[in-house]
Amino acid sequence: MSTPVEIAPARGKLGVLLVGMGAVSTTTIAGVLAIRKGISKPIGSLTQMGTIRLGKRTDGRSPKISDVVPLTPLDDIVFGGWDIFAEDCYAAARTAGVIEPALLEQVRPELEAIRPWPAVFDKHYVKRLDGPNVKKGKNKKDLAEQLIADIRKFKSDNNLDRMVMVWCGSTEIFALESPAHQTIDAFEAALVASDVAIPSSMIYAYAAISEGIPFTNAAPNLTADIPALVALAAKTATPLAGKDLKTGQTLIKTIIAPGLKARLLGVEGWYSTNILGNRDGEVLDDPESFKTKEESKKSVLDYILQPNLYPDLYKDLCHVVRINYYPPRGDNKEGWDNIDLVGWLGYKMQLKINFLCRDSILAAPIVLDVALFMDLAKRAGMSGVQEWLSFYFKSPVHAPGLYPEHDLFIQLMKLKNTLRYFKGEELITHLGREYYD
Ligand SMILES: NC(=O)c1ccc[n+]([C@@H]2O[C@H](COP(=O)([O-])OP(=O)(O)OC[C@H]3O[C@@H](n4cnc5c(N)ncnc54)[C@H](O)[C@@H]3O)[C@@H](O)[C@H]2O)c1
Repeated sequence: MSTPVEIAPARGKLGVLLVGMGAVSTTTIAGVLAIRKGISKPIGSLTQMGTIRLGKRTDGRSPKISDVVPLTPLDDIVFGGWDIFAEDCYAAARTAGVIEPALLEQVRPELEAIRPWPAVFDKHYVKRLDGPNVKKGKNKKDLAEQLIADIRKFKSDNNLDRMVMVWCGSTEIFALESPAHQTIDAFEAALVASDVAIPSSMIYAYAAISEGIPFTNAAPNLTADIPALVALAAKTATPLAGKDLKTGQTLIKTIIAPGLKARLLGVEGWYSTNILGNRDGEVLDDPESFKTKEESKKSVLDYILQPNLYPDLYKDLCHVVRINYYPPRGDNKEGWDNIDLVGWLGYKMQLKINFLCRDSILAAPIVLDVALFMDLAKRAGMSGVQEWLSFYFKSPVHAPGLYPEHDLFIQLMKLKNTLRYFKGEELITHLGREYYD
């Protein structure tokens, strides 16, 4: 046992600010409301259902995570957010078509009460989208200040104790770091100059981080993962997490690939294709938004398989990722993976995976968990990149010069060991010699 980290209690209400009230956000909100009412169960959520082993295997201590660390109860969450469409969350959830109408009816008044505030949006960064509920401002700094005013009003109107923000907006076009992203001063000057290097998502991130509000990026775009915003987060003691929720095909990839590598099976090729018919699919049909997603999806295998350490097994890996917009499927994505394997003496094998998944159903429990864990991180005095939450992301944000950990099982160990560390519990190494001495 070591000294526990001092964690402020989860007293009062937590505001969860969602940027973009589309399929993922409305599925999260409607789900939380249904769970609160006892209509549904929080399947897929570690904060609600997960347990954690404490001490030795022989101690028989495996409490629920929510009984070990002080998390905000679901009843104390208040949702708010922005969208370029003014429709309330009930109408948006109907449009998204993820949750069946009969369930939505049961939480309809609460959903109807959540109306998105006008968004900061510029079509330049999301080519396939346009909407009427958009702020006007004299420059990007002014827009950031309008967001801060929304945040403060939300806090006082709802008598909130704390807040977290999650970007659940559409995937923006591919961007690389530029000089405007390097320092806080350069970033703020670029806001005033409305520099094209600053997409809408960075304006939200800037607003949150300036206010010390934990910021998470659920999409793959370059947002808070730039030196200027990391420096601002250090200054305002703000936790950061992201990016791109690990759901669907990439989740399966990070489950299968570590297993193949563990047994030193070679992989010659990994072909992944998807059909997807929701608005996210439509946005990703634009090559510039797709490139952002593609980069996020493709890096996973390189890091897990480590071709530099295992050239005989992985150096020539051909990894192809395709997403095809196919409206009839809506949010029910279908993914196919073909994996060309190589075994003993170079004999070839194939593995085929056909995953008929529901994108937002996989994403919603992650948004909830991340919101609650980021609030916990803030109350535990943590700031900057929260690597222990890489479990939830396709492209985990990481310190410069450090490679990100993509293996789902190492990520889970990291997450649970962080919770043990918070509580001053022994970290679990799985060495296990003590049982045989
Ligand atoms: N569903 C998943 O499994 C999953 C997994 C990983 C990442 N993501 C990412 O999460 C994001 C949301 O996915 P979704 O399925 O909910 O998409 P969606 O298209 O249903 O919702 C996105 C919403 O964001 C709004 N929006 C776009 N730009 C905005 C801005 N600047 N300000 C405010 N609102 C804005 C859109 O109007 C839309 O309502 C996407 O970027 C997606 O790539 C989703």
